[in-house]
Amino acid sequence: MKLTSTWCLALLSLCVLTSLPVTQQSVNGGSSCATCTVIVALVEQLTEVNNSTVVETLDKLCSFLPAQFKPLCDTAIKALGPVLIVLMVNGADPDVTCHALRFCQTDPGQPTCRGILPPSSIYTDSEFEIKVLKARNKIEHLMLKTKLRLGLKFCEIPGVKEICDWIKKSVAHQEPAFDFDNDAFSAYTNLRGSAWRGKDCFDDDANMYPGALPKDGDKELDSNCNGILGVNPQTKKSYEDELCATSQPRGVAVLGDSVGAHFHLPPQWFDATLISEKAFFHAVSIIENELDWPMMSTTTGHGTNEWPDVITGPVDSIYLRLRERNRCNHRDYQNIAANGEDSTSVNQIMRTLARRPKQDRPIVVTYALVGNDVCNGHPDTFDRMTTPAQMFNNTMTTLEYLNQVLPNNSHVILMGLADGRVLFDSMSSRIHPASTYWGTFTYAKFYDYMNCLQISPCRGWMNTNQTIRDLTTKRADQLSAVLANITLTKKSRFSNFNLYFMDNPINKAIKKWESLGRQSWELIEPVDGFHNNQLGQAFVTGVIWDDLTSKYPEIIGPLNPNNDLIQSLFGDQGGY
Ligand SMILES: *[C@@H]1O[C@H](CO)[C@@H](O)[C@H](O)[C@H]1NC(C)=O
Ligand SMILES: *[C@@H]1O[C@H](CO)[C@@H](O)[C@H](O)[C@H]1NC(C)=O
Ligand SMILES: *[C@@H]1O[C@H](CO)[C@@H](O)[C@H](O)[C@H]1NC(C)=O
Ligand SMILES: *[C@@H]1O[C@H](CO)[C@@H](O)[C@H](O)[C@H]1NC(C)=O
Ligand SMILES: *[C@@H]1O[C@H](CO)[C@@H](O)[C@H](O)[C@H]1NC(C)=O
Ligand SMILES: *[C@@H]1O[C@H](CO)[C@@H](O)[C@H](O)[C@H]1NC(C)=O
Repeated sequence: MKLTSTWCLALLSLCVLTSLPVTQQSVNGGSSCATCTVIVALVEQLTEVNNSTVVETLDKLCSFLPAQFKPLCDTAIKALGPVLIVLMVNGADPDVTCHALRFCQTDPGQPTCRGILPPSSIYTDSEFEIKVLKARNKIEHLMLKTKLRLGLKFCEIPGVKEICDWIKKSVAHQEPAFDFDNDAFSAYTNLRGSAWRGKDCFDDDANMYPGALPKDGDKELDSNCNGILGVNPQTKKSYEDELCATSQPRGVAVLGDSVGAHFHLPPQWFDATLISEKAFFHAVSIIENELDWPMMSTTTGHGTNEWPDVITGPVDSIYLRLRERNRCNHRDYQNIAANGEDSTSVNQIMRTLARRPKQDRPIVVTYALVGNDVCNGHPDTFDRMTTPAQMFNNTMTTLEYLNQVLPNNSHVILMGLADGRVLFDSMSSRIHPASTYWGTFTYAKFYDYMNCLQISPCRGWMNTNQTIRDLTTKRADQLSAVLANITLTKKSRFSNFNLYFMDNPINKAIKKWESLGRQSWELIEPVDGFHNNQLGQAFVTGVIWDDLTSKYPEIIGPLNPNNDLIQSLFGDQGGY
């Protein structure tokens, strides 16, 4: 029951869709309202930053976008531009503008939602109503001439619609879009390709892919894509046999949510003081990867940072460390995580894990659902959280499935939920990047705004009410206890893997970071204020690895004494 809804974090005409399990409509304009507000706030701040006109700013913004979007952006500006210009020239702030255009409204019985405002916007609700009416009067004659009509959703604006449709199509994949032999591995990077799972070195043979047991010792063909093949001319034995057979090679996978997939929205897309053409250079690839960065994530990170214009920080991962331990593990990673996953929905996506008990090598699977079982955007947030009984049920369903598909001697690590109170404690008084120039929109206001529109990814923790935050943590702790209990009492049921429980590494990592005299916000994503950032992802890797090496060395396996030889014979083993 994975329902896709629009948590529209927005930029220019890029209405970005992420997946959230939502069963109820948002209110007060919801994501259309937030999208409008963010864009208008960006345009107004840019106009001030550069001392330019609104017309110049709008043109400039379209020119930043990748070529395929420019004409669509121009279409959108043609529709929206004239009214925006009139409103802005008359001093309408983002709230007044977006209410005048009816992307935002105040539904019956709901409060008026206040978004990102310039420092000068101080008025009461009734003064606000008058401003909105006056503004609407000013644009009435213009609205008749454009294709806009009041009450349109943001994604229905001509030009924007096509971009929204393209985004929806791009993020709809759970398995590689280009996979010619249907083995769930791809030679293409994005759209759930090799950014997510080891690159397929033979995309026309369904028996050759990363993690496969080698065929005929890989004497001629590299059937597991780890870059090790051929025959040692001295011994006449295959290299795969000589260098890997006794080394206990293994893969690694994560079954998880947006933390596992590594969600990241570049602040350079929202921050008027940072925005530039460079920031949008990779926008297509970024969206084709669902705004996730699995290639730089804690479990499956495998590259170096190729795009420092839109993401900064070191890359470190369990995969990279397993590969350093044993080069025979090259390319054997799978990121089976998606934005919005919880213990219920993971029972669908887990079926895309590509592992077969007899044909493949063992694998280390982390079950890492960090918070969506307690996170939702609804006012009755507690009623919609997963109960301990459901958690037990869901997790057992996952484990029973894994026991059928995982090769013998695999390992499964159940990770506890995070304590999301760290978000408020680290961020609430800081300024959100969407108002860097005005300096007015704190994360506390950001939480209130999203809760007012009922579009928050996590009302329980992104909340200014401490009681609500504490109660959310209480439920998260109960759900973690279920995982710990399953590990203790059900272990012996699973014949193909060893089962472990691990406390959530994020909170441990933040404590350790603070003990080094650093600040917790340095590890948190600035735009969504909800995930660990690149530095956080890399730092968490170290915390998990320390736990594994000290408590469960059998998970990481022995150090392969042939690593140097493999490197000298096979170089980068085909890269990624
Ligand atoms: C603002 O001015 C800077 C410096 O002149 C320029 O590089 C940038 O493109 C301008 N941005 C916009 C949105 O006009
Ligand atoms: C902004 O531009 C206007 C018109 O070009 C000019 O008169 C004004 O001095 C500029 N202001 C600043 C702060 O640069
Ligand atoms: C547990 O799962 C079974 C089968 O899927 C279902 O019939 C039952 O209602 C579930 N129990 C709870 C508490 O969710
Ligand atoms: C799995 O491997 C273990 C240890 O190597 C072995 O004792 C066990 O019999 C194997 N189980 C199956 C079903 O092959
Ligand atoms: C905080 O939330 C609790 C639980 O919903 C509620 O009882 C309380 O009135 C709220 N406090 C404030 C200050 O809104
Ligand atoms: C642990 O699980 C067992 C059965 O699965 C249950 O009887 C017991 O109450 C659970 N204990 C806790 C502390 O949840």
